[in-house]
Amino acid sequence: MTQKKFDFDEIIDRRGTASEKWDRYRDRDIIPLWVADMDFRSPPAIIEALHERVNHGVFGYTSAPEGLVQAVVDALEAEFHWQIRKEWITWLPGLVTGLNVSSRAVGEPGDDIITFTPVYPPFMSAPPLSGHNVIKVPLACQAGRWGLDLAALEAALTPKTRQLLLCSPHNPVGRVWTREELVQLDRFAARHDLVICSDEIHAGLVLEPGLRHIPIATLSPETSRRTITLMAPSKTYNVPGLGCSFAVISDDTLRRAFRKAMGRIVPHVNLLGYTAAEAAYRHGEQWRQELLEYLRGNRDLVEQEVTGMGLTVARVEATYLSWIDVRSTGIEDPVRFFEDAGVGLSGGSDFGLTGYVRLNFGCRRELLREALRRMRVALKGLPGR
Ligand SMILES: Cc1ncc(COP(=O)(O)O)c(C=O)c1O
Repeated sequence: MTQKKFDFDEIIDRRGTASEKWDRYRDRDIIPLWVADMDFRSPPAIIEALHERVNHGVFGYTSAPEGLVQAVVDALEAEFHWQIRKEWITWLPGLVTGLNVSSRAVGEPGDDIITFTPVYPPFMSAPPLSGHNVIKVPLACQAGRWGLDLAALEAALTPKTRQLLLCSPHNPVGRVWTREELVQLDRFAARHDLVICSDEIHAGLVLEPGLRHIPIATLSPETSRRTITLMAPSKTYNVPGLGCSFAVISDDTLRRAFRKAMGRIVPHVNLLGYTAAEAAYRHGEQWRQELLEYLRGNRDLVEQEVTGMGLTVARVEATYLSWIDVRSTGIEDPVRFFEDAGVGLSGGSDFGLTGYVRLNFGCRRELLREALRRMRVALKGLPGR
């Protein structure tokens, strides 16, 4: 590997920046490891591009720059061997918007949409918000590893099911779905003529050596025709506050339906979001590689420490989010318990499964170490431990 250029251990004070993550515990000694953004500064290439754009000083209505569109096409080809056409892209201010638009675009109100739980909350709220029913199919956990339960999936299907919302890689269980798993889902979708909406926001964050993210749309031209893929540079390059995402839809009819559902309700992408996205896809690779190495270290630390606390944690194959089973502690309100210990986590119930917490390790290692120490001390204080 070339010499390291980026310092992920740098202390950057985010207090006083209206950060959602840090403001939740303003003036309290609680280390925030909840909402999914990282405490790291974005790649210098992004910051420079933003400076340059800001210096221009005119911020009118802006379309996606031609250079960005090409950068996305090139990045998908380079990273996933996915050849897309420029016109397949639809720009969006966020992926949650994409999940909601997708829910509106397919089928009729009263239809059913399937998703796998535990899952990022908008997968469960988008269908009802657009008048559909959500069918939650629990993922199965065997020996600490989460996977698809195909029998449960078949059993959950109804004659009114029109769409499958897939989280790939999966937040919060950290799985990178294998080709075999994706093929099984694809066959299921083909058998029942379902549209697949695949949220691939974490695709650039595969930590496990030897694993690769496979966009489900790349399985075959037929799969591509039934798939809405949602992507963004936001998680990977830590620019979620800049709101620039996109959908890739190869089928003209499906794409038209998606755009129609956007109506005049979905706003333009912020022009600085476009600027950041182009710089990320063109110049962010070395930063991303160093980030992944750093995150791998954090992941291993969490795994080692949390296991040492007598808890079970799923191996994080992708994302910077650990999904921790705290059922054995008997703690009734784990979020409250760990907040009282000085650590702010996300509660499993938000993702549709109680007895778990999600820990965001996208922060500098010393802070993570301190948070884990606090957790260990608090757990030791429990009766019988
Ligand atoms: C799977 C998934 N989709 C979407 C989002 C949020 O996307 P956006 O901020 O672009 O709406 C997140 C954020 O954590 C996520 O984990």
